[in-house]
Amino acid sequence: MYYPEELVEEVRMKNDIVDVISGYVKLQKKGASHFGLCPFHNEKSPSFSVSGAKQMYYCFGCGAGGNVFTFIMNYENYTFGEAIKMLAERAGVNLPEVEYSEEMRKKENHRARLLEANKEAAKYFYYQLRAKQGEIGYRYLSGRQLSVDTMKKFGLGFANKTSDDLTKYLKQKGFDERLLAEAGLSSYDEQRGSHDKFWNRVMFPIQDINHRVIGFGGRVMGEGEPKYLNSPETPIFDKSRNLYGLNFARTARAGNIILCEGYMDVISMHQAGFTQAVASLGTAFTSGQANLLKRYTENVLLAYDSDGAGVKAALRAIGILREAGLTGKVIDLKPHKDPDEFIKNEGTEAFQERIQNAENSFMFEIRILERDYDLKDPESKTKFHKEIAKKLCGFEIEVERENYLEAVADKYHIGFENLRRLVNTYAAQTGMVKPVERPKQAAGKKTTPEENSRRTQRMLLTWLTDYPQVYPRISQYIKPSDFTEELYRKVAERLFSDIEASNYNPAGIVSMFEEEEQQREAAALFNTKVEALETKQEREKAFHDILYAVKKNSYEYYSGRLGSDMDALNQVIAGKKALEELGKTHISLD
Ligand code: CTP
Ligand code: MN
Repeated sequence: MYYPEELVEEVRMKNDIVDVISGYVKLQKKGASHFGLCPFHNEKSPSFSVSGAKQMYYCFGCGAGGNVFTFIMNYENYTFGEAIKMLAERAGVNLPEVEYSEEMRKKENHRARLLEANKEAAKYFYYQLRAKQGEIGYRYLSGRQLSVDTMKKFGLGFANKTSDDLTKYLKQKGFDERLLAEAGLSSYDEQRGSHDKFWNRVMFPIQDINHRVIGFGGRVMGEGEPKYLNSPETPIFDKSRNLYGLNFARTARAGNIILCEGYMDVISMHQAGFTQAVASLGTAFTSGQANLLKRYTENVLLAYDSDGAGVKAALRAIGILREAGLTGKVIDLKPHKDPDEFIKNEGTEAFQERIQNAENSFMFEIRILERDYDLKDPESKTKFHKEIAKKLCGFEIEVERENYLEAVADKYHIGFENLRRLVNTYAAQTGMVKPVERPKQAAGKKTTPEENSRRTQRMLLTWLTDYPQVYPRISQYIKPSDFTEELYRKVAERLFSDIEASNYNPAGIVSMFEEEEQQREAAALFNTKVEALETKQEREKAFHDILYAVKKNSYEYYSGRLGSDMDALNQVIAGKKALEELGKTHISLD
């Protein structure tokens, strides 16, 4: 954590959450809370609630939630540190300069120098493109139908034919030759000394999400090899964790992000108004990038080249997206090669239509798979069906698997029951998924025992935040260690000690965590939907049941660890006793 906890709390308390969120979302008071339309997902009736008492927000529709920091992080796409800074400024709280250790400072200095070198280089290239010597570059980019505004927005530039002017310029600005070489702006050889790495190319500065230049891609104007030259990886340029265009796309709020292959594709799409487009950085799409995207969207649309290499890359990307828990769809660009050419030839509306008709990534995979088989030949056709069954086994959730089964059976004219039998046989052989049980059970999601136990733990924490006065009556039965989820345990520890110190404030607990994901999870603990119960009797019974369930889960958890965990025995003994007592104790909620 950068700042002392007390200061973080001061900033939080001086920014009333209802006030702050009202600046972004139209809120209406209803009972103890304020309600509005959730800014984090599309909805028509308000399920986004802000509680002045708890100083937290929570969306019952999408589960977004947290304290005032989480909101700003989520809405503005800020880091925790950035959110603290912004809210401190808003409330007039002075923040001290962050103190670093000597080693940290050196590292930070080095990173800062690399950033400065890139920034100066970007300015130099930018200027060159607009000067006499850059005319050829300017003509090239205009020829590709980029407007003046677009070139400006993306900071496009030009590296001229002189092979050492940038190096000279940056050296004269005080940058060290070694640093310039590390940044990939210069290279060094004994005969010629230092010279520019990029020359006679149009330059695409690559920015991180905070608009800082972290590297470059340079393109030859016309034919030539290599077509693109890119900066090497440096301490500030991690190609697997940045995406070209994300600095703009992250605030596009289109409900999806379009992932493509090329810099020019991103720029064309943005120029046409699709400001949610991003591209990987001359390297294949990575899981680090998928996780980055996950911060901003659940829906990724692939706009990869329509040629063989593009299809192959798309199939890879689909797998990576799926693993990250993102939904992928594929935009068909045919008969054109890439988004840039598509838009140039067909226009914006046609592209919008292709977005709407983007193909489900699973159906895309099956369609590509089909090409390898001859469906007129019974043997080949059977193999194709088996391959489909194998892929369907990948869906662990029954409803999902059934839906895909239906869609595939329908599209490829395979008997639904036949295909299902094939899936079941395959699953039984490999043990991948359980054969679907017949007759079908009542509809509805099946939850695992683990999820059930997590849910009761969450509910108990919600009850205790709603009725903190009950805590002293149950403290003899329940300990933080009864929360078997690590994050829940941390929250319980803090919540209990806060209540004991008469310093109950759940929103402060949320800022114990620096990551937005964790803050969201912690906030959910205080906002789990508890059924609205009419009578006091019902409420007390429900509370008792939850308490008992959490204790029982903990007892079973530690019993299962006897022998491997030193503390388990004590926990089990105490747990057994508490369970017996709890069984016969009435706990009043008053
Ligand atoms: N790329 C690269 N080095 C190359 C070729 C390509 O780094 N020699 C990367 C670049 O990031 C490029 C992307 O791969 O943007 C896609 O390549 P390609 O489709 O060949 O180029 P386009 O982006 O379509 O560029 P253009 O339209 O100018 O041909
Ligand atoms: Mn192209």
